[in-house]
Amino acid sequence: KTMHKELEMLLALSTGPEAEISRKDFDGFKSIFHRFLQRKGPSVEWAKIQRPPADLIQPYDAIKASCLPDGVTASLNKLVVVKLNGGLGTSMGCKGPKSLISVSNENTFLDLTVQQIEHLNKTYNTDVPLVLMNSFNTDEDTNKILQKYTHHRVKIHTFNQSRYPRINKESLLPIAKDLGMKGETADAWYPPGHGDIYASFHNSGLLDTLLAEGKEYIFVSNIDNLGATVDLSILQHLMSRPADRRCEFIMEVTDKTRADVKGGTLIQYEDHLRLLEIAQVPKAHVDEFKSVTKFKIFNTNNLWISLPAIKRLQQQNAMDLEIIVNPKTLDGGLNVIQLETAVGAAIKCFENALGVNVPRSRFLPVKTTSDLLLVMSNLYSLDAGSLTMSKKREFPSTPHVKLGSSFTKVQDFLTRFENIPDMLELDHLTVSGDVTFGKNVSLKGTVIIIANHGDRIDIPAGALLENKIVSGNLRI
Ligand code: UTP
Repeated sequence: KTMHKELEMLLALSTGPEAEISRKDFDGFKSIFHRFLQRKGPSVEWAKIQRPPADLIQPYDAIKASCLPDGVTASLNKLVVVKLNGGLGTSMGCKGPKSLISVSNENTFLDLTVQQIEHLNKTYNTDVPLVLMNSFNTDEDTNKILQKYTHHRVKIHTFNQSRYPRINKESLLPIAKDLGMKGETADAWYPPGHGDIYASFHNSGLLDTLLAEGKEYIFVSNIDNLGATVDLSILQHLMSRPADRRCEFIMEVTDKTRADVKGGTLIQYEDHLRLLEIAQVPKAHVDEFKSVTKFKIFNTNNLWISLPAIKRLQQQNAMDLEIIVNPKTLDGGLNVIQLETAVGAAIKCFENALGVNVPRSRFLPVKTTSDLLLVMSNLYSLDAGSLTMSKKREFPSTPHVKLGSSFTKVQDFLTRFENIPDMLELDHLTVSGDVTFGKNVSLKGTVIIIANHGDRIDIPAGALLENKIVSGNLRI
């Protein structure tokens, strides 16, 4: 009740269109907060978890079209591409939306997305639109940049996800003192995770507009996943199902390796496919969850979802997505929690949902500068906004790269490489400490470079490092 009163007081401070948005955000928050208070114990009973039946996780090869599917233009005309664009580039030391970081040949994540869709539209003479789900953190900067694409053959829409109040971990009351986003109250709000897409897409009115234009499916993915291109075989698989067995949701999953232990997995639970996230796993079972033998696949967050089905579920208020409680400590030391949901958790609500086990190449996320080094290197080539592994690499797997903390920020990373080394024959690279790379360096096999505290290692231009350890102030 106190929470209610405090939020009503905050709302009373706003007027005009902002008040309308705040009212919808408030309603959404009230509902998730209420569900949070009602929670009793974990959202899954471990003993009831089952492996999904084989026919509910199809291998990609089983649905892959052997040639260009029939009616591809007609199918594409029913598709909308949605990119989750609520996140900032903070973890890579950048200000502003993550999607505006340059990742390949001076192209940002957003540039690459636009190029991919434009290429698709030109090739198949279609008009697949791009929708960006922004947050209050990314909306202004993103909209400024969008003017740049006015003359491209891609219609771009945006809508904003909700803005919820962070709450004090102890008192469970909002920490906001007013609705402002600057100064003292800047930390008081958060975008409540990508699961918010269903409500905010619906509330924005854009869902209805696209339905009225005859759109049937959205392809949703993280904007930082460079492998998430429109796949015509999956699209055709959706379109070719008979109306009474329409698949309303496809989650692209891929085989888990030891590096992916944190990703959500698909389970069978009470006769439905369900996403199981690490945050839902009881402590005693975390190791089991992480193992690659029991849970073999993980969610890439590339999702194909029926638009009429989203509309139906929103109207019925039938999406009770599991709440992820995300604890944070703010700059001043205050402990808060934010209540979030994940877009993939909705799989349990849709009819005839399916997992498709796709090749790893459809999951190419750039989360750190170590990932950035790989995608900027000659391991990949860029074609119409899509990255593909170079044919010159003889092994199908990508090298393991671990850059130390001097490389965390994109700005620092860029100044430490005069240009990106040749990595075609690299298996493993570890770099730690104050290290710089001159022009045209080649890295092969396993390379470890460690500059101890107070030392600096400059790899000279043209150097070839093959199965080498460079450490201390040793020079090569
Ligand atoms: P993150 O980078 O935050 O998540 O967002 P992650 O570590 O990959 O893991 P999951 O998928 O959350 O498990 C992934 C995508 O979702 C967007 C980000 O911009 C990014 O594209 N996102 C995240 C939103 O659009 N809104 C949010 O509230 C959170």
